[in-house]
Amino acid sequence: MRILVTGKNGQLGRSIYKIVNTTNGDSLPPNEFIFVGREELDLSNNNSIINYFDNHDKFDIIINCAAYTAVDKAEKEQELANQVNHLAVKQLAGIAKEQKAKLIHISTDYVFDGESDKPYKETDTTNPINVYGKTKLAGEKALQEIMPTNAMIIRTSWVYSEYGNNFVKTMLRLGKERDELNIVSDQIGSPTYATDLAEVILKIINNTNYRNKKQSTEIYHYSNEGEISWYEFAKEIFKIAEVNCKVNPITTQQYPTPAKRPRNSLIDSNKIMQLFDINTPFWKDSLKRIFTND
Ligand SMILES: NC(=O)c1ccc[n+]([C@@H]2O[C@H](COP(=O)([O-])OP(=O)(O)OC[C@H]3O[C@@H](n4cnc5c(N)ncnc54)[C@H](OP(=O)(O)O)[C@@H]3O)[C@@H](O)[C@H]2O)c1
Repeated sequence: MRILVTGKNGQLGRSIYKIVNTTNGDSLPPNEFIFVGREELDLSNNNSIINYFDNHDKFDIIINCAAYTAVDKAEKEQELANQVNHLAVKQLAGIAKEQKAKLIHISTDYVFDGESDKPYKETDTTNPINVYGKTKLAGEKALQEIMPTNAMIIRTSWVYSEYGNNFVKTMLRLGKERDELNIVSDQIGSPTYATDLAEVILKIINNTNYRNKKQSTEIYHYSNEGEISWYEFAKEIFKIAEVNCKVNPITTQQYPTPAKRPRNSLIDSNKIMQLFDINTPFWKDSLKRIFTND
């Protein structure tokens, strides 16, 4: 299978790349991976998308890890966020359909308003409260309309990794610079180690049923197991990394940001776990892996 992975320089793209290039090829079905970044395939530019696919052989699977992910900046750059997270996804879905390729698209818990007291299920009502969430939801809807079959939307939350910008890396940097930090304690969620999500995606594409059968397009949720606030997350990061920095809990009101964040970011991963026989590691166990390079 020829598999295209977009967003090769992002957290998830790099995590997939690392696994694909370190796994013993014998244990995997024959797959040829092609990783692309914005230099080759610029999702903010329709023509770049057309040119890329016109000039390359057809793909069997497209994994779209690229996205406009600057949540606060999106409040000002609505048009660009919409182009990358919505219109480009629509265009990719059209191309995937034409090529009879399967499409795996990554989305976010930010499609919800966070007002529920329970982890969100795939069937729960969406109601994004910021521009990023709105553009990601528009991308999901466009994809579902164009591809009623052969696509998969995986919503994830609070992604961190060894790569790029994320909460863990920011905490490690600030924790070394400062003696104490004020961290929001009234937003809850479950972090997702990008390597865990990458492993899930690779397990899915190597699943015989997935490879050989046409499926209806479905939404799935995936995060690590557990329920914490950013405050608790920061405390655990410092504990594991042995960084001596005091963490003080504060409210969202005390930490205003341009984009609103959902109060509850918890998503229920049961559907994907059952269908693809997937384990979701406990968040603390995954967090330890980032420090041990395991
Ligand atoms: N990060 C989170 O906490 C989080 C939470 C929930 C869902 N998600 C979703 O998970 C997926 C993967 O996120 P991530 O954390 O891996 O994001 P990331 O690290 O920000 O990576 C996103 C990638 O998209 C690329 N990109 C942005 N604009 C582009 C454009 N115009 N053309 C081509 N590529 C472009 C970026 O390229 P450059 O490297 O060149 O900038 C970057 O490599 C995304 O769909 C995201 O919405 C993320």
